Amino acid sequence: MTATSPATTVRGERRIIGPARVATGRRRDGSTFLIELAIGEMHSGWQVFFTGFINDLTEHRRIQAQLQEFQAELVHISRLSAMGEMASTLAYELNQPLGAIANDTKGCRRLLAHPDPATVATAADVLDKVAEQALRAGQIISRLQDFLARGETVRRAEPVARLIKDSCALAMVGAREQGVVLRLALDRRVGSVLADRVQIQQVLINLIRNAREAMAQGPCRELGVATRPLTADRVEIAVSATGPGIADDVAARLFQPFVTTKPGGMGVGLSICRTISQAHGGRLEVERNGAGGATFQLTLPPARQDKPRREEPGHCA
Ligand SMILES: Nc1ncnc2c1ncn2[C@@H]1O[C@H](COP(=O)(O)OP(=O)(O)OP(=O)(O)O)[C@@H](O)[C@H]1O
Ligand SMILES: [Mg+2]
Repeated sequence: MTATSPATTVRGERRIIGPARVATGRRRDGSTFLIELAIGEMHSGWQVFFTGFINDLTEHRRIQAQLQEFQAELVHISRLSAMGEMASTLAYELNQPLGAIANDTKGCRRLLAHPDPATVATAADVLDKVAEQALRAGQIISRLQDFLARGETVRRAEPVARLIKDSCALAMVGAREQGVVLRLALDRRVGSVLADRVQIQQVLINLIRNAREAMAQGPCRELGVATRPLTADRVEIAVSATGPGIADDVAARLFQPFVTTKPGGMGVGLSICRTISQAHGGRLEVERNGAGGATFQLTLPPARQDKPRREEPGHCA
């Protein structure tokens, strides 16, 4: 293409006019294809030359479409795996309250088989517990829904002592019959942590259940839950059990999912606990204790600076 025009640019200068545009080209056989069209302008003496640069986009578009397809597939796959992970977490966490509901309602039926004022009163208490467990199951689901909707959990200042006592109440059902004694040593200097209550309760319940399961065959069955301020920005909750401690063959992989030494175990409890702890800006570690067993240490950031107060040892079974 050539044209004449008053030359305003420097002699011999070349440039592309405006941005390249996408247009439709037509082949000899009449079929059309996408092109990228750029126009170049060159001044030579008093003459101006225009050059059309045509880039066939057929292959480029095909690769782009394929790439988009791959990306969509990848997003789909990662979503599926996240959903799978959440579904297994949900199934695992719901097992505990649902199991308790099933047990308690069976107990109620037995009690009501021969009703008298005493058994009816006991049955009413048990039904209260059933209602609590059902609410708890609902909370677990709604926390997950919140998480799915917003990608985050609700954290508030939660008193550590309350978190521990509530978790013990849930996880120690039947412990007395099993011969397990619970020793609480709650340091009064430990106040509140910034936490999602239900999630941290899940961690504590898992750790307590593991401790109980580890001691099932042992002669000495003492389960300890102790707190202490670790540093200015860390409080520690330690859950300990007497022997036999962590089996050597799983010790290195303890927090990985699906690592278990139990015939009916899923091996996901500790991996869920660690994920939750880390999501709270905390840590979950384990060490061997003086009684030959394992102590799991959960550290979390405190909600605020608490005034130092006297340590309060105590125990319940
Ligand atoms: N307090 C403990 N003392 C000794 N071993 C423990 C203790 N806690 C956990 N373990 C060991 O760590 C393994 C993994 O625990 P984790 O809670 O992840 O899975 P699990 O208890 O086997 O199965 P589940 O998924 O039902 O909880 C257990 O199988 C057990 O061998
Ligand atoms: Mg477990």
